[in-house]
This record gives sequence, C-alpha cells and structure tokens, in this order.
Amino acid sequence: MEEKIQEIKGQIVSELEKARTSKELFELKAKYVLGKAGIIPGLMKELGKAAKEDRPKLGQIINSLKEWASDYFARKEAEINEMEKNIRYKEETVDITMPAKKREQGTLHPVTIVKSELVDIFAGMGFKVLETQEIEDDFHNFTALNTPEEHPARDKQDTFYINDSFMLRTHTSPGQIRTLTTMKPPFKVLIPGRVYRADDDATHSPMFHQMEGLVIDKDITMCDLQGMLDELVRKMFSKEAKTRFRPSFFPFTEPSVEVDVSCFECGGKGCKLCKGTGWIEILGGGIVNRKVLENCGVSPDKYTGFAFGLGIDRIAMLKNGINNIHILYENDLRALKQFKD
Ligand code: DAH
Repeated sequence: MEEKIQEIKGQIVSELEKARTSKELFELKAKYVLGKAGIIPGLMKELGKAAKEDRPKLGQIINSLKEWASDYFARKEAEINEMEKNIRYKEETVDITMPAKKREQGTLHPVTIVKSELVDIFAGMGFKVLETQEIEDDFHNFTALNTPEEHPARDKQDTFYINDSFMLRTHTSPGQIRTLTTMKPPFKVLIPGRVYRADDDATHSPMFHQMEGLVIDKDITMCDLQGMLDELVRKMFSKEAKTRFRPSFFPFTEPSVEVDVSCFECGGKGCKLCKGTGWIEILGGGIVNRKVLENCGVSPDKYTGFAFGLGIDRIAMLKNGINNIHILYENDLRALKQFKD
C-alpha cells in the first residue's frame, strides 16, 4: 500500500507540474481528489479489504496523503490563478497614448443648407411649406399656367416626357395650380422641390432645385412682393442688401419681373461675381395672371396674388463661389465638405 501511495504522489507531482490552466487543474482534481470516483477517495475503499491490524496505520497514511494533496492542489491553484490574472491584465490593457480614431463629421449639402435657410425665413413670414408631385401632366405644368401650345418651354428638347400625358415637371410652378385648385384663399405657400430639364452644361443640370412662392389674398399688389423680397434678402444676404425689379415676361404672371439683389460680394460697387454691374439676378415673379386664377376656378375679381420662383442651386453656387453646377451633384466629398452652414 505504501508503495502505491508513493506512486500516486509521484504521478500527481508530475501531472500537476505540467498543468497551465485552471481547466487542466480542475481535470486533475477530478481525477485524484474529488468525489467517490477520485483515486484518493478510492483508496478508502481498499482500506476495508486490508487486514484489521493494519487498518489504523494505513488510515493514517491515506489521510496524510489526502492532506498533502489538498495543500498541493491549493498551492497550484493559487499559482495558476495568479498567472491567468496576469495574462488577462496584459490582454485587456488599454493604451491611453494611442491616437484617437478619426471620426468623420458629416455636413449638409450646400443645396440643403440654402433650402433650409429659405424655408426658415419664409416660415417666419407665415408661409406654409408644401411639396407637390414631380411627375406632372400637361394641364398643371403648362396649360393652366397660361403657357400656350407653341411656347418654347414645351419643346421636347427641354422637357422630359414620360409618355403622351405625363412629364417630369420643368419647374415648381405647377405647385401653384395644385394649391389654387385645392386650398381656399387667402393663403401663403412655399413649394421647394426638384425640377427637370434636358439641359446640361456648366450652369445647367438635368435635375435641379427650385422654390415657388404663392400668396393669394384680397388687394395684393407688387408692393407686397417687393416688401417681402426686401425682407428676404436682408435675412438671406445682409442687412444692407437691396432689391431691384426689372420688367420681364412669364405667361403665368402679369406684370412680370426679374429681381436682382445688390451684389453680396462687393456690396454693389461691381466685381467679378456681379460682372461689374453691382447686381445679381435671384428670381422671377410677378402678379398672378388673371387667366391662371380663372383656370383654377378662383375669381380674379375677388382675389389677387403674387408668385415667385427661384433657383436654389443657383443661390447655393453664388453664395459658395461654385462656378460649375456639377460640383453639387458629383458627390465628391472633398468638394462638398468645404461648404458648411
Ligand atoms: N417657373 C419659372 C421658371 O422656371 C420661374 C418663375 C417665374 C416662377 C415667375 C414664378 C414666377 O412663380 O412668378 O423659370
């Protein structure tokens, strides 16, 4: 028996010295000391088979083996725990001197920035902001807007037709018809959105953005339009900004005007941006043509109104010194990132 015990001790030492992880240690514990299946508890069973007089001595020997093993396992366990803890600390160490990961901050698109500025200004004047459809029919895009059959705007070269009846809207003005036929005057609406024309060069893109304004009430005059636009340019460009009206022609307004703002680059002295004139054209507008009101079932004797339309992309380009509209749509982040609000 004593020999056997020496043998077991030897085995435990050699196996336990090889153990490196708490899992390996646990497996050895199960093999030697745990439960009834363990080798050492198993020795107790053999004790019963020994001669009666030998039992007390053998009992002592087995007990001291048990104590020895439990001490030995405890020491080894502490050692392995310490080792594993050190490994974990090493793995989980955070190097606080490492440079931080660069986080890219997004910016709004220059067209979105200008559109939001305009919407804010007009909403402050009591305008309701609406979006109307991009696919329009001939009635809303042309006919109701008093644009006759032979008008060049209807030219197949300008308009993207979808079929004989439908097209991509060429301007936001059909939004006027959509509101005049559905809303009861008086009202003030602003209709921003995408518009489409078969036109493509440095200052034209087949898709671009416009914003339509329409005010319908009693006794509206050109003075109301001018007063409102003066306020707009003061808010949008600078306190000193002024407007200038030039006579023009649009089928849906009579009289019609083109509106310039005093150059926001040179303040009106004349520079490259305003081509030496001191003025920059920003929109078209006028008094809503009686025929348009009639076409929409609104009495022109009872109501009058003004309308205007502006190009959002054009203003974004002017404000940011962009000379090619395609810069807005090529989605080159190196360019777009430079335009912050
Ligand atoms: N729809 C015109 C265009 O696309 C712009 C415009 C001019 C709109 C005069 C208006 C207006 O509402 O009154 O060129």
